[in-house]
Amino acid sequence: MKRAHLLLVLVNFVYISVSPSYSATISEREILLRFKDSISDDPYNSLASWVSDGDLCNSFNGVACNPQGFVDKIVLWNTSLAGTLSPRLSGLRFIRVLTLFGNRFTGNLPVDYSKLQTLWTINVSSNAFSGPIPEFIGELSSLRFLDLSKNGFAGEIPASLFKFCYKAKFVSLSHNYLSGSIPDSIVNCNNLQGFDFSYNSLNGVLPSRICDIPVLEYISVRNNLLSGDVSGEIPKCQRLSHVDLGSNSFRGFAPFEVIRFENIAYVNVSWNRFGGEIEDVVDCGESLEFLDASSNELTGKIPAGLMGCKSLKLLDLESNKLNGSFPGGIGKMERLSVIRLGDNSIDGEVPREIGSLEFLQVLNLRNLNLIGEVPEDISNCRVLLELDVSGNDLEGEIPKKLLNLTNLEILDLHGNRLNGSIPPELGSLSRIQFLDLSQNLLSGPVPSSLGNLNSLTHFNLSYNNLSGVIPLVPKMQAFGSSAFSNNPFLCGVPLATPCSSRGATAKPRNSKALSISVIIVIIAAAVILFGVCLVLALNLRARKRRKDEEIVTVETTPLASSINSSGVIIGKLVLFSKNLPSKYEDWEAGTKALLDKENIIGMGSIGSVYRASFEGGVSIAVKKLETLGRIRNQEEFEQEIGRLGGLQHPNLSTFQGYYFSSTMQLILSEFVPNGSLYDNLHLRIYPGTSSSHGNTDLNWHRRFQIALGTAKAISFLHDDCKPAVLHLNVKSSNILLDEKYEAKLSDYGLEKFLPVLDSFGLTKKFHNAVGYIAPELAQQSLRASEKCDVYSYGVVLLELVTGRKPVESPSENQVLILRDYVRDSLESGSASDCFDRRLREFEENELIQVMKLGLLCTSENPLKRPSMTEVVQVLESIRNGFGSS
Ligand SMILES: *[C@@H]1O[C@H](CO)[C@@H](O)[C@H](O)[C@H]1NC(C)=O
Ligand SMILES: *[C@@H]1O[C@H](CO)[C@@H](O)[C@H](O)[C@H]1NC(C)=O
Ligand SMILES: *[C@@H]1O[C@H](CO)[C@@H](O)[C@H](O)[C@H]1NC(C)=O
Ligand SMILES: *[C@@H]1O[C@H](CO)[C@@H](O)[C@H](O)[C@H]1NC(C)=O
Ligand SMILES: *[C@@H]1O[C@H](CO)[C@@H](O)[C@H](O)[C@H]1NC(C)=O
Ligand SMILES: *[C@@H]1O[C@H](CO)[C@@H](O)[C@H](O)[C@H]1NC(C)=O
Ligand SMILES: *[C@@H]1O[C@H](CO)[C@@H](O)[C@H](O)[C@H]1NC(C)=O
Ligand SMILES: *[C@@H]1O[C@H](CO)[C@@H](O)[C@H](O)[C@H]1NC(C)=O
Repeated sequence: MKRAHLLLVLVNFVYISVSPSYSATISEREILLRFKDSISDDPYNSLASWVSDGDLCNSFNGVACNPQGFVDKIVLWNTSLAGTLSPRLSGLRFIRVLTLFGNRFTGNLPVDYSKLQTLWTINVSSNAFSGPIPEFIGELSSLRFLDLSKNGFAGEIPASLFKFCYKAKFVSLSHNYLSGSIPDSIVNCNNLQGFDFSYNSLNGVLPSRICDIPVLEYISVRNNLLSGDVSGEIPKCQRLSHVDLGSNSFRGFAPFEVIRFENIAYVNVSWNRFGGEIEDVVDCGESLEFLDASSNELTGKIPAGLMGCKSLKLLDLESNKLNGSFPGGIGKMERLSVIRLGDNSIDGEVPREIGSLEFLQVLNLRNLNLIGEVPEDISNCRVLLELDVSGNDLEGEIPKKLLNLTNLEILDLHGNRLNGSIPPELGSLSRIQFLDLSQNLLSGPVPSSLGNLNSLTHFNLSYNNLSGVIPLVPKMQAFGSSAFSNNPFLCGVPLATPCSSRGATAKPRNSKALSISVIIVIIAAAVILFGVCLVLALNLRARKRRKDEEIVTVETTPLASSINSSGVIIGKLVLFSKNLPSKYEDWEAGTKALLDKENIIGMGSIGSVYRASFEGGVSIAVKKLETLGRIRNQEEFEQEIGRLGGLQHPNLSTFQGYYFSSTMQLILSEFVPNGSLYDNLHLRIYPGTSSSHGNTDLNWHRRFQIALGTAKAISFLHDDCKPAVLHLNVKSSNILLDEKYEAKLSDYGLEKFLPVLDSFGLTKKFHNAVGYIAPELAQQSLRASEKCDVYSYGVVLLELVTGRKPVESPSENQVLILRDYVRDSLESGSASDCFDRRLREFEENELIQVMKLGLLCTSENPLKRPSMTEVVQVLESIRNGFGSS
């Protein structure tokens, strides 16, 4: 059976090849197999089902037959077939549709296809055909749809193409290399609804009677070399819905009458030489969605009637010579999503009613003559992506409410007269890519929050009156000095102006130049919370000496943004001490274990303290802040820590640097090996001792030295620092002990970091310090003064003498306030009862003197408390008077 069939095929084949004139009689399957033969590449095996024993009508992919069993359609689109078209196809006697869109056919349509008189549709768009447009197509009298677009057809459009085109409905020749003019014969196509000749090199004029075609709805001749005046003809095409004359050389009046047409939806006359005024439209078509008349020479004002185009989504009149002010009513065009009116001579104010356009995505009003302010109402346009009002005469401040525009990608306010400062909240518009505030009158600092704008590709603040230090945010600095230039009071990298001469307030003492020495990049990954802190050293730069110490500034530099987007934190590390390692490897090793629970060495009012160790035995204490208190941004943080970093006293634990990122802030300070006074006095099991209750190494001599050292440190803060530094958190856990049991006061100067007091004057955190807080601080009217520190210090004195905690609860219903307990004991003459039992070898009188000083310091009335200088003097006289061993 099969064999016989094969034989038949073979016979057939021989028969055909000897007498081609009878080809019409060969089977349609055979024709399609020939078509397949001329395919040189079929990457998706789209024709795999085209086999000699297949069922033509039911199994051949892309083939459909009519009820009589003849091929009706061949639809092979997006199949990437390569090769040429087989002329044999002309033997298909009933084919109506040939769609080969999206293949790689080369050559041209075979002349034999002129026999395909049944064809309704030829769609060979997106192939690689070349040569002239075949004239025979004009003889296919049934043709309705012809699409030769996106090929390499060249030469002129043959006049004969439109010879018998009375059935043609749509012709597309777009995206080819056609030249010459559009043949007048197109007017023969009585039923033509549309043509698309865009993106060719056609010249000449539009056929003069083009609108004689009664049903013409769609005209696109975009991007050609057409010229002439269309104002007479186009308005006659009353059924137009889409007219695109863009990017040609048309002149005269633009055919704005079409705006009135009932079906008009799209009008593009942009990039021509149309002039004159836009005639006032009285009744705008209800379907008009797009009106683009940009880049012409239009004059006069925007006609008020245009505001009646209620369906308009896009209004683009940019780059013309329009004048006058905005017509009222723009706010009623509720569907507007794009307004481009830039580069005209329009004056007046930015209409506030723009705020009622809730779908507005683009507002481009650049280079007009607008005055007044940027209306806050614009912030109601929630989906706004682009706001460009650059090059106007706008004044006032940058509206804070703009921060509502969370989708904003482009914010261009440059070249106006905006004043006030840059709102730091701008840093929360995280999608911004283009931010230009240059050439205004903006003053104040550059908010470091702008460093949060991770998508920035354009950034410019030049030509303003900004002042202060450019935040050490690499993302910002990367835009180079021209982005900051011509702000006379601005300093720091990347400007050549160093900040040293002016930054004096940042460091009360030793204020010499902050020399940038080492650039290191820290990437603290999100995993940092679980224990990994990765520090990268990028670059070592020259170092400068500053007295016997050195400030090392370690900054971050933006790494690949891909890293950043995957949840990695980039921050900034600044080191004040040259004793610290500045090599990447060291930091990596030292900080790997950082923030591991095991390394916690204390819990402070503003965060936990960890010990970080480096190879070579260097350790530092790292305080991880849980609160920033009243510190509002990185600048304030840096200024505050920078100020504290400059404080030097033998009894202060020095600040060694800091790390700042938006999600984590660390304060680095000297690591003091012997723990805190609190631990030594009160902890049950203190490492390194055999004692089960506190540290017996803490003899009276050492305790006295601790009292004196602490007093000296506080006195230094109060009296030697200008302005005075309040500690406000003096307590035994903040008094650290070095290897010689000398006091090192820590946690000083962090007043601003303390949690904001709640309505009771206290926060829960602050409650940790109960017993140390001066009564006036605990009351509603918070009046922090040096005397608050004196009070707390007094409590520490009592603690040293008694070895008791400031507040103890010996049993459930009993609360023992140390100050009251000592006072009672002293008054009842049994002072020695409250001496710490662990103390040996001491002068009783010395203890009583210190105890009395403690009570004086904790006087209810702040005025009765001594100053810290007086405290130091008293202590020194106690020691001198009674001597101590
Ligand atoms: C055409 O093919 C391309 C690439 O294979 C594919 O991305 C595209 O979605 C296809 N288009 C259609 C309409 O199938
Ligand atoms: C040709 O086919 C493509 C893809 O299906 C289609 O987008 C285009 O409108 C067709 N052309 C005509 C004139 O129908
Ligand atoms: C109008 O045509 C121009 C080309 O001349 C094009 O760039 C622009 O996008 C078109 N406008 C609209 C709204 O499609
Ligand atoms: C606007 O321009 C037109 C024509 O260029 C001119 O006649 C008219 O005086 C101008 N109007 C204003 C307000 O400048
Ligand atoms: C926008 O700003 C207004 C006024 O400040 C405020 O009431 C509104 O909640 C803001 N909306 C958003 C989404 O932030
Ligand atoms: C900003 O300019 C406006 C008008 O020019 C003025 O009223 C306002 O006081 C200025 N504001 C500041 C902060 O200079
Ligand atoms: C610029 O800012 C400085 C202070 O930083 C101020 O003294 C000066 O008046 C400002 N100049 C102008 C033109 O606003
Ligand atoms: C910033 O704007 C100024 C003035 O317009 C220009 O000279 C400079 O090149 C711009 N810099 C950047 C980084 O865009």
